[in-house]
Parts: sequence; structure tokens; C-alpha cells
Amino acid sequence: MKTRITELFGIQHPIIQGGMHYVGFAELASAVSNAGGLGIITGLTQRSPELLAKEIARCRELTDKPFGVNLTFLPAVTPPDYPGYVRAIIEGGVKIVETAGNNPQKWLPALREHGIKVIHKCTSVRHALKAEAIGCDAVSVDGFECGGHPGEDDIPNMILLPRAAEALKIPFVASGGMADGRSLVAALALGAEGMNMGTRFIATKEAPVHEHVKEALVAATELDTRLIMRPLRNTERVLKNGAVERLLQKERSLGAEIKFDDIAAEVAGVYPAVMQRGEMEAGAWSCGMVAGLINDVPTCKELIDRIMTQAEELIRGRLARFL
Ligand SMILES: Cc1cc2nc3c(=O)[nH]c(=O)nc-3n(C[C@H](O)[C@H](O)[C@H](O)COP(=O)(O)O)c2cc1C
Repeated sequence: MKTRITELFGIQHPIIQGGMHYVGFAELASAVSNAGGLGIITGLTQRSPELLAKEIARCRELTDKPFGVNLTFLPAVTPPDYPGYVRAIIEGGVKIVETAGNNPQKWLPALREHGIKVIHKCTSVRHALKAEAIGCDAVSVDGFECGGHPGEDDIPNMILLPRAAEALKIPFVASGGMADGRSLVAALALGAEGMNMGTRFIATKEAPVHEHVKEALVAATELDTRLIMRPLRNTERVLKNGAVERLLQKERSLGAEIKFDDIAAEVAGVYPAVMQRGEMEAGAWSCGMVAGLINDVPTCKELIDRIMTQAEELIRGRLARFL
């Protein structure tokens, strides 16, 4: 399949694996890229620019296909060493960066000067238009269904994607709720040039996370996610568990008075415990509603091949028959 996204990134299939904290290591990114998609290493999971440089080198040993690095710009009192991370990306010869969070404008000149393509992840048409205006090459449009941070507008992809298609000139991928060939065909019909998946890629053989995480995703239904941190305007969609219920109880009882410190026990430092040690009650971790469509743990190649076969059959078979 050829789209503006496959052309832009030099990949075989229009499928991207979004950056995921403590999931997006070289093992997963290289497996996705080797299967013809675009794998992405999560920059900030590496605790220093030096460690990111090593992870990039490790990924390069595992694949000769294009892969990217995610840089998430968070509001922080003491921000991570972003200049160092950007340097590691440039010096590591990475040619694709997925930015997310705050406006990436400050970093674009350095990235573009080195021929790096930038895809910015956004949850609204106005942010997508801003990304286009500042010179991003593409955007990843994350609907309300998505795992992680869906923003505060709550617009699902059925509306958000066609709105993005009406407004944008640069190509975009659909993100949030994407799982299979049906998702890809729907995304293309709504105006996207491909799709980005997060949660679905966690339940793959190569995802370097504890088996308990993959088992939880297979067991979960579309009813099992919760929105946390709404009162802090930092909404996150997570899989429900005891810690999440406790957190939501605090949100209800403290109301508008709630501070990050009140819920730090349920959200800070949770990822290594969940993803690496399989402690499923350790705290809140991002998960999309798409968990309801995840029923197995294939390899990345099996997953991507299955998606492309199903998409082609849908387009040539079911859809063509309606005409
Ligand atoms: C466990 C997990 C961790 C994530 N961490 C990040 C992150 O660090 N930076 C980021 O930009 N997006 C992050 N995301 C969002 C994904 O890149 C992607 O946009 C999202 O998962 C798409 O929705 P889906 O899960 O329905 O496929 C994360 C998602 C999950 C499920």
C-alpha cells in the first residue's frame, strides 16, 4: 500500500508504533520496522542522552529499516536534558522524530537542518494546524479513544479525523483505537494516510514488557479503561485497577482542591513496576479502549501482515461489493 506517509518515511506499510514509556525499547521498535512499519524508541524512557544514544545504536544493530525516536515535551519544573536528547538523535543518524506534548517549535530548526522528518502527535485540529504552520512534516491525530493523554476536548476519531482531513494540507495518521485491518481502512476512508497504534503493539511477542501486562490486555474489554487526572487538566486514559479506583476516589473527595502530590503515590514511578516487574496493582498505566479488540499476542510481523491482508480484502471484497 502506498500513501503519503509510506512515501514520507520510506516504509512499506502505513503503520506506526507510537512512543510508549517503558515499552518503546529497541526490541519493539526494530520488530515493527523489520515488519515494514515504523518502529519508535521512546526517548525519555532512557534516563540520559547517553543511554538514548546506546538504545539507538542497539536498534540499528537489530534493523536496517527506518525507525524513529519519540520526544515527549512535558511541562516540568526541572525539564529533562532536551538539548542532549536532540543531540543523541542527530548524532545517532535517526531520520524520523515523533514529538508529543508541548509545541516542538524550538527544536524544529536543529532537526530539519539534519534532514530529520517530524511527526507531531496532537489531540485537536487546532494543535494539528499549529504543527503544520510551524513546519512539521506530518501529524498523528489522537482521538478520545486513545491510550495515554487524549487532551481535554473529548472528540472521538469518527469526528476528529474527517475534521483534520478538511483542515490540514500535510499528511496525517489516525491514532487511538486502531487495532486491525478494519481500523486501517476506516482511517483511510476518514482521510488519514495510515495509522498509529500504541496499546495493540504492547500485546505482541517482541514488546519487552512483563507477561502480566500482555495477559491484562487480552483479558480487558473496551469497558475497562478510566480517565484520571481530569481535575488537573492532564487527563490520562489508563487500565482500571485498585490503584486507579483509589485515585478516582481521591479526585471525588478532594474536588477542585486536588494537587498532583495527592495522587503521586498512584502515578509516580509506576512504569518500571508494571512493565518490567509485572506488578499490575502498582499504579495507573496508559491503556486504550482498543483493549476490547485485543485477543492474542502475535509477533509484530504476524500482526502487521494480518492488518494489511485484512485491509486489502476489505477494500477489494466487502467494500467493492457495495458498489
Ligand atoms: C503504555 C503507554 C505509554 C505511552 N507513553 C507515551 C509516551 O511516553 N509519549 C507519547 O507521546 N505517547 C505515549 N503513549 C501514547 C501512544 O504513543 C499512542 O499515541 C496511543 O497509545 C494511541 O492510542 P491506542 O493506545 O488506542 O493505540 C503511550 C501509550 C501507552 C498505551
